[in-house]
Amino acid sequence: MSRRAGRTWRSADALRASINVSDEHSGPADAIPNSATSLDPSDWSALRAEAHRMVDDMIDHIAQVRERPVWQEIPDDVRARFGEALPRDAMPLAAVYDDFTRHIAPYATGNVHPGFMGWVHGGGTPVGMLAEMLAAGLNANCGGRNHIGIEVERQIVRWMRELFGFPETASGVFVTGSSMANFMALLVARSAALGPQVREGGLAGEPLTAYASAAAHGCVVQAADLAGLGRGALRRIPFDAAHRIDIAALRRRIAEDRAAGFRPFLVTGSAGTVDTGAIDDLAALAQLCRDEGLWFHIDGAYGSLGMLSPQIAPKLNGLSEADSIALDFHKWGQVNYDAGFLLVRDGEQHRATFAAPAAYLRRETRGLAGGSPWPCDFGPDLSRGFRALKTWFTLKTYGAERMGAMIAETCAIARHLEARVQREPQLELLTPVTLNIVCFRFRAPSGIDSDALTAEIVADIHESGIAAPSLTTIDGHLAIRAAIVNHRTTRADVDRMVDAVLHFGAARAS
Ligand SMILES: Cc1ncc(COP(=O)(O)O)c(C=O)c1O
Repeated sequence: MSRRAGRTWRSADALRASINVSDEHSGPADAIPNSATSLDPSDWSALRAEAHRMVDDMIDHIAQVRERPVWQEIPDDVRARFGEALPRDAMPLAAVYDDFTRHIAPYATGNVHPGFMGWVHGGGTPVGMLAEMLAAGLNANCGGRNHIGIEVERQIVRWMRELFGFPETASGVFVTGSSMANFMALLVARSAALGPQVREGGLAGEPLTAYASAAAHGCVVQAADLAGLGRGALRRIPFDAAHRIDIAALRRRIAEDRAAGFRPFLVTGSAGTVDTGAIDDLAALAQLCRDEGLWFHIDGAYGSLGMLSPQIAPKLNGLSEADSIALDFHKWGQVNYDAGFLLVRDGEQHRATFAAPAAYLRRETRGLAGGSPWPCDFGPDLSRGFRALKTWFTLKTYGAERMGAMIAETCAIARHLEARVQREPQLELLTPVTLNIVCFRFRAPSGIDSDALTAEIVADIHESGIAAPSLTTIDGHLAIRAAIVNHRTTRADVDRMVDAVLHFGAARAS
């Protein structure tokens, strides 16, 4: 019994015991679906058989990935199918699945394949796939409330605090990807700089300026745009020959801006730039931010999980000093898409940036509305899926040591590729290899436009299905860019890709 506002309340246990639910209405036999409206199957056994077939097929799809091309163009007739109107009538699940196997599965991005080396795409794992299915079965809305999905996410937050040496008061939240995490970090830094009134009154003409290397990912610039600062408020600082931010130039620019009446508030360092995998001098940036009183954010989209590897971690010295880190489990972490994450040292500042009380989101001390704060207090999403589950399954199933070894191996394969490029007289290495990204090109004979040749070679390789490197621009010239992110990629795969570059390069240049 407890007493509230002069009345006596009975305990929850006592109340439960007092409810007299007759057996007649309590068991599964009572669960007769409303067959007119329920979307559940009328024959669960048939659904189960279909489900088993799908799981078997998808496991084969992954296990036999090497037997297929990395990528193939979608034929016109297949593309046209996706122009069909909204289906009015029901269709058997088997027919929809047949559509999937013939018209969707063969034309996916290809990043499950070990020959995929473009952009920064993780390969995913069968474990992550199964976890996604389990999460969909639970269909939990992880925006908030008092349930186990929130506890699993909190455990990942604790694991990330441990990995990055952040204090217990640090907060974290799953998001779509690092584009969102970098944007949210900017908002937290903005709130820290201007105080809570910014949420009511907006920027009110405050001339905020932020700083990042010119090699930083485009989403870092876009974050300034989305936040209403304007892209110009993100000062793009030159980088050195190793593609690391020029710290002296950064200091100068901050001083110039202050002198001109601007209000510097944020520096974003890169722990693995998207073009070349360069890592800014994070310890020096941390010191600079302390000296200048600036928020130190790190875009660690893929590189930060290098902390899992004892060989790679020393390259990330200074990461633990950040005020916030954006990272993606779906890149080097191999968690199936999508699983971005934001970690913030000052959890209270993070919460104060996003929490928005609403009558129907009232928090209670018990029941399903308990367990505050909720993930929706740490970001703009209210309804959110259970991204934490596939991340939890992946980290538990493989363990941090094996994940670290896998990450180190992708870097060793990149060094193998670097050495091969350096051995081939037809090829030219364009940047030093810091982590797992190698940028190079086929030497164009005189009279042939190098950029056009590079683009043709990469498209030829895509269409051949042998591999999928991507393109970027290095020192004003197009480069073939191979990012070894996929845990399935081997030395033989990168050699096959180089063979293809030599083959198509020679054919095009002759
Ligand atoms: C360094 C870096 N930052 C940010 C991003 C954006 O991450 P996402 O695609 O998960 O939004 C990427 C993506 O490749 C990246 O490599």
